[in-house]
Amino acid sequence: MQLKVSDHIETKVSNGELTGDEAGRFSAFVDTCNQELMTHPVITDNKFCKWFASGAADKEIVKHFIVQFSVFSNLFLMAQLSKVINAGSLEGMRASKEILANELGVIFHKPGSSAKKVDDTDREGDPAIVSTEGSVDGGTFRFQAAHFEWLLKMGAILGLGFNDMGKRRNGTPSTLFFCDQLLDIYGNEDPNIAEGASFAVENWAAAGFWKQLVAGLEAFKQVEEPKLPLAFFTWHDRIEDQHAGHVMDELEELYFTEDFDEEKFLEGGRKMLDGVQAFWNGLNEHRIAAAYQA
Ligand SMILES: [Fe+2]
Repeated sequence: MQLKVSDHIETKVSNGELTGDEAGRFSAFVDTCNQELMTHPVITDNKFCKWFASGAADKEIVKHFIVQFSVFSNLFLMAQLSKVINAGSLEGMRASKEILANELGVIFHKPGSSAKKVDDTDREGDPAIVSTEGSVDGGTFRFQAAHFEWLLKMGAILGLGFNDMGKRRNGTPSTLFFCDQLLDIYGNEDPNIAEGASFAVENWAAAGFWKQLVAGLEAFKQVEEPKLPLAFFTWHDRIEDQHAGHVMDELEELYFTEDFDEEKFLEGGRKMLDGVQAFWNGLNEHRIAAAYQA
């Protein structure tokens, strides 16, 4: 996966918004990001996800995976709150609140589109029907729209209880390393480091791991758990498809802000990708060890 400078940079040069020199520097920086970040193995070769997509995971592996994912999903709230607090602008703070409030259960609201009426209140907040577009501003809060509650429902089908999921004590050392790196780097006080981490996380997500997880879970569901709800994963896959298109625009905007620091941005990105890699390596080592025990 390689990033490309979009064509509108040329338009910006021709209408005088950017000088040719500025456009050239940005383009060189995108090349550096391609060399230093986009080649990271967690983006180009995620071994666990590749294996998982083949549908080879049995119930024990899926359970372990869901528990570790729930720890990441829950502890991510702390990193996201730190990102809200450390935002460098009101706009940045609001963008971070969109993610935090949505994670906690505020359903995205799209002005103009009449929200889908749900007759069955049990289904309000169900990821199979809630929007992936719009803003939490004006959105409705539902406990059951919390992403963690979506995972709890999956866990319940697999025999996992409330206290089996989402807590630090449920995490393996590699999952906890990842969560701690998120808090430290993604939620960093220095916006350059935090933005580098955000950029890394977005590109990791855009590399297609949600699709691989969905494919593996669908195969597992068919054979082992026909009642397993997969909408937590399909919802995130849908939202990532939308985000992927914005990554370049965001990078461009950031690059031309006054305090942008290339080195710190790349450092945040690199460290964050190493953290993400630790999480998937932990899952991969677990499934290999389980295969030998069987
Ligand atoms: Fe989420």
